[in-house]
Amino acid sequence: MLTHDAALEWIARWDRQQEGYLPDREERFTVLIDAVEALGRPDPLVIDLGCGPGSLSARLLERLPKATVVSVDADPLLLGLGRAAYPQLTFVALDLREPGWAASLGLDRPADAAVSTTALHWISEPDLRRVYAELATVLRPGGLLLNGDHSDSDDDTPAIARLERAVHDRQTERAFGGEPHEDWRDWWDAISADPAFTELNTARTTAGASHHGSESHLLSQHVGALRGAGFTETGTIWQRGNNRLLCAVRG
Ligand SMILES: C[S@@+](CC[C@H](N)C(=O)[O-])C[C@H]1O[C@@H](n2cnc3c(N)ncnc32)[C@H](O)[C@@H]1O
Repeated sequence: MLTHDAALEWIARWDRQQEGYLPDREERFTVLIDAVEALGRPDPLVIDLGCGPGSLSARLLERLPKATVVSVDADPLLLGLGRAAYPQLTFVALDLREPGWAASLGLDRPADAAVSTTALHWISEPDLRRVYAELATVLRPGGLLLNGDHSDSDDDTPAIARLERAVHDRQTERAFGGEPHEDWRDWWDAISADPAFTELNTARTTAGASHHGSESHLLSQHVGALRGAGFTETGTIWQRGNNRLLCAVRG
């Protein structure tokens, strides 16, 4: 049986393996939540897109206890882990590529912000356009999308894009000094071998929750899709190498 404490331990281990790729992960969470807070509403309605086990959602609720956070993901195991660890959050199982996902959230008012970390690059450009268009239907005018992810500068600035990647790689090397650390694959192998997760792991395999196919890594793909969906302003509000926090304002 999956206990609350065991779920919290697995999430702490998830956070450590994610930090192996992103030494600034906590700083990026902090800045993202600062931006939500700067909207000036103590009780914002926030949607976390591709929430995983809820690391960002939990930090948001800790800082803004009156917020309502709706945490969305397609992976049954990560959702099960989040539900066991954070009963105060609302987790919703859905694939953002499925038409109608936004309406199916059944929100009782337009959301103030949608947030996401290290998730939307998994979605192909045509799907991304649909995801942002649907998102715009449930965000209030002036509402924000805040997307923290790796995204490379555009194809027409290849030298800058190379530098951004190099800065990120150097920072990661410095942070870990070449020490071995658990990576994404090791974490998944370990949790899949834990008998407490047999059922969730079967659900994961059935749902085909691992990702395949094309991805959206270019900043211009996100900016273009956001503009097409009616977001009137887009800009980077925090950046370290190619790790950036993209902000878009719904018109
Ligand atoms: C690297 S994890 C990041 C999780 C979390 N946001 C964090 O920062 O720890 C990427 C997440 O995106 C989710 N994801 C990818 N494609 C998705 C889709 N089409 N619909 C819903 N969730 C998706 C995955 O299931 C996974 O939980």
